[in-house]
Amino acid sequence: MKLLITRKIPQVGINLLSQYKEIEIDYRQGAPLSPAEMKKAVKDADAMIAVIPDKIDENIIKTGKNLQIIAAYSVGYDHIDVETATKKKIYVSNTPGDLTESVAEHAFTLMMSLARRVVEGDKYCRAKKYKYWDPMLYIGPQMKNKTLGIIGFGRIGQQMARLCRNGLEMQILYTDVNQKFDAENLLDAKKVDLDTLLNESDVISIHCNLCDETHHMIDTKELEKMKPLSLIINTARGPVIDEGALARALKEGWVAGAALDVFENEPNIHPDLLKLDNVILTPHIASATYEARIQMARMAVQNVIDVLINKTAPRNLVNKELQKESVHSIV
Ligand code: DGY
Repeated sequence: MKLLITRKIPQVGINLLSQYKEIEIDYRQGAPLSPAEMKKAVKDADAMIAVIPDKIDENIIKTGKNLQIIAAYSVGYDHIDVETATKKKIYVSNTPGDLTESVAEHAFTLMMSLARRVVEGDKYCRAKKYKYWDPMLYIGPQMKNKTLGIIGFGRIGQQMARLCRNGLEMQILYTDVNQKFDAENLLDAKKVDLDTLLNESDVISIHCNLCDETHHMIDTKELEKMKPLSLIINTARGPVIDEGALARALKEGWVAGAALDVFENEPNIHPDLLKLDNVILTPHIASATYEARIQMARMAVQNVIDVLINKTAPRNLVNKELQKESVHSIV
């Protein structure tokens, strides 16, 4: 059986696979595969581990005639056409829960760096502009007791709330499709509508999934509702924010600052954002901790082993419609 791994992953995953001699690994470790290379590679693969930049669309899925599982090396799976995979009875799996703390810590880091203008200060020092102490230099807001608005109150959103509530005594507002009673009690959090969250928050942190409902959820109209000194952080998915609208809001000063780890057209970044000092940009590294990356490798590989060796559905199945069917009835 052939397993395609499209990028280098932590060795722990490869070691786990090495005990199964029946799995032959086509291990690509360089730059992302082009669509043509991907098509060629997937042709005779029984399973694949796909990373975020791999666009696993209808074309690729249909080329993978032997595919039994597409294992995302990520929690998000918006880069995979799950509908087509389900129609073709191909399992899609992800790695939920492995990066909760890491992503929340990055969102927290971005929030504090933005508020305290760390990146601007760093550039200033490197440019040898620091000649004397200045009482008016790089002033920003203190975060203690401020209001944090969280869009998407799942595992990561709640962990961000925990860091901000317990560490900085911030007030927590959130929007989510579901009411999260336990987290509300623990964190003194309040579910509100999006308008209230935008109107009342000093910092907004985005932690929702990307879907039709959340695509450009934050556009000009919504940005106009934010407080003039407020900050916005996105460690979820780029297209939740209309990047052009955000660049304009930051440039014209009706939003004070933004910190983005994800972008609308990754790896391309809106050129106007690149010119602004009141935005911090990081290259989709919110989950880039040793702990998260190792756990992602373990989980993605385990999902493949479930299907290829144990002949069951993967333990982190996304397309739950396929749960009832055994692998024997699928292939
Ligand atoms: C995920 O797992 O969805 C993350 O965005 C990868 O860092």
